[in-house]
Amino acid sequence: MNINITLLPGDGIGTEIVSSAVKVIEKISEIFKIKINFTEELFGGCSYDKYGVPLTEKTIESCKKSDAVLLGAVGGYKWDNLEHSKKPEAGLLKLRSSLGLFTNIRPAKVYNELLDASSLKSEILKGTDFIVLRELTGGIYFGKPRGYDDTKGYNTMIYTKEEVERIARQAFTIARGRKKRVTNVDKANVLECSQFWRKVVSEVHKDFQDVELQNMYVDNAAMQIVRNPTQFDVILTGNLFGDILSDISGMITGSLGMLPSASIGEKYALYEPIHGSAPDIAGKNKANPLATISSLAMMFELTFKRKDISDVIENSIKKTLAEGYRTADIFSEGTILVTTTGMTDQILNDLIVQ
Ligand SMILES: NC(=O)c1ccc[n+]([C@@H]2O[C@H](COP(=O)([O-])OP(=O)(O)OC[C@H]3O[C@@H](n4cnc5c(N)ncnc54)[C@H](O)[C@@H]3O)[C@@H](O)[C@H]2O)c1
Repeated sequence: MNINITLLPGDGIGTEIVSSAVKVIEKISEIFKIKINFTEELFGGCSYDKYGVPLTEKTIESCKKSDAVLLGAVGGYKWDNLEHSKKPEAGLLKLRSSLGLFTNIRPAKVYNELLDASSLKSEILKGTDFIVLRELTGGIYFGKPRGYDDTKGYNTMIYTKEEVERIARQAFTIARGRKKRVTNVDKANVLECSQFWRKVVSEVHKDFQDVELQNMYVDNAAMQIVRNPTQFDVILTGNLFGDILSDISGMITGSLGMLPSASIGEKYALYEPIHGSAPDIAGKNKANPLATISSLAMMFELTFKRKDISDVIENSIKKTLAEGYRTADIFSEGTILVTTTGMTDQILNDLIVQ
């Protein structure tokens, strides 16, 4: 196996957490005898400082040539007052659209050791392990006409058959490798766009009869996620509903520093922690690298189809947490406070093939 990964460490803690992930990749390469080539490119504020733009064609080309992209985070106070198109965050939107990343996957997984970090009761959360699959490049955020004048404001919720089909296929395919259950979330009792969405999803389902399909209205889904999150496996939904549900789902599981994500298109895939560049702790060796390392586990599972490697990475996270190691964001009394590099060393120690 020969793998090419483009690294985009970005700004702030991005460089620290990506450097942790690189150590994990190097150890994985050693254990599993896989040749892994890295290309590192500037992206975000650091790219603006050098080239006057947050995202260069060279960086886009490198991403397109690689098998997967690992992103740290971009942004920071220094670039906050730039005009919109020069901002690091504008580079992020451009990167996602240049790579055609129409699926956003956010897992909501609770580690037993961190049950107390959530705002929900631990007995409700225990065993929670689902993902929100959000359509990312269509729907009401992009539909036209849109606008407002003195008397009205309007947007258009629109999905084409092709857009729904491709995300539905992703959802069923991913569910096949999990608990084989897809919950399609929409507002088909009110919106024609949702009725169409639901119809296309059920047509695609005919090719995936081994996966169970359930439909749920979005208002009910929001309630069910906090009432009984363990009932879900894969939540499939559109751009607007997914934006809201993925944040609810992320936060029921605790700290930002623990949450990975994947954005996937027809050809390319990008993996990143959901948090930002955390300028308040940047350069202090305090950042939690686990969201990035967990994003790496997603990369091995989804892009390289190596669930075995993904499991080894996930198990090392579980073991490290069970041994009591915590960065400051997840620290509690009775646990062992470690730095970014300290946490990374423990993960490397615990990367064991069973
Ligand atoms: N995908 C991205 O690159 C991305 C996402 C969100 C925000 N941003 C940018 O990041 C910058 C900072 O944004 P923000 O402060 O609103 O959000 P943030 O996620 O960077 O930080 C929010 C809080 O969480 C903490 N935190 C975040 N990640 C952590 C980690 N791994 N370990 C420990 N603590 C962590 C930070 O210290 C901070 O207190 C802004 O410029 C914003 O635009 C980038």
